[in-house]
Amino acid sequence: MQKSIVSLGLLLLLLECAQAAFNCSAPPSFNNFDINTCCRTPELDMGDVPQKCQEYVSGLKSANSKYPSFAHLCYPDCIYRETGAMVNGKIRMERVKQYLEQHVHRRDQDIVSHIVHSFETCLSNVKGHMKSSNIESYKVLPHGCSPFAGILYSCVNAETFLNCPPKMWKNEKPCNLAKEFAQQCNPLPHVPLPSS
Ligand SMILES: *[C@@H]1O[C@H](CO)[C@@H](O)[C@H](O)[C@H]1NC(C)=O
Repeated sequence: MQKSIVSLGLLLLLLECAQAAFNCSAPPSFNNFDINTCCRTPELDMGDVPQKCQEYVSGLKSANSKYPSFAHLCYPDCIYRETGAMVNGKIRMERVKQYLEQHVHRRDQDIVSHIVHSFETCLSNVKGHMKSSNIESYKVLPHGCSPFAGILYSCVNAETFLNCPPKMWKNEKPCNLAKEFAQQCNPLPHVPLPSS
């Protein structure tokens, strides 16, 4: 009995060490493994919204044809506005939930509560940072939009990756490694925040 308690203690200690084992300046190498495939993206039918937002982004002065429009900082801003998730720069959680319930494919509904939870976590984290830095709202950048939506979008993606439902998670070594690395080295809000 005594011995098993000791070895349990040792095991827990080892597990804790294993979790804090990364040098955050030296991310593990994943070779050509595409980490973005680790948490399967739910099937989401947004109708003509992506098309609208692609056109909107291509029309901005900051548009760069070298990158896809969805990588533009103002793309999430457009997506949230067009879906009603954001009105006058404010996120409407009820609408986020409703929109996902209505537009995520039935067979992927499991992930909706996870995404909603990520939204809540990220929103409260980002708002907390803004409050402690005395920022009412992020300035509109020369890009053509405030970075707020883009920050939230990246945070929600990273947070959902960390809390991916088992059914949608690829249980493979590089995925689990990426998750452990992110858990240790990329805390909330998972993205750098502007200081003003
Ligand atoms: C962490 O990685 C960086 C970059 O490779 C290196 O310069 C640094 O010495 C490493 N730190 C530790 C404690 O190993």
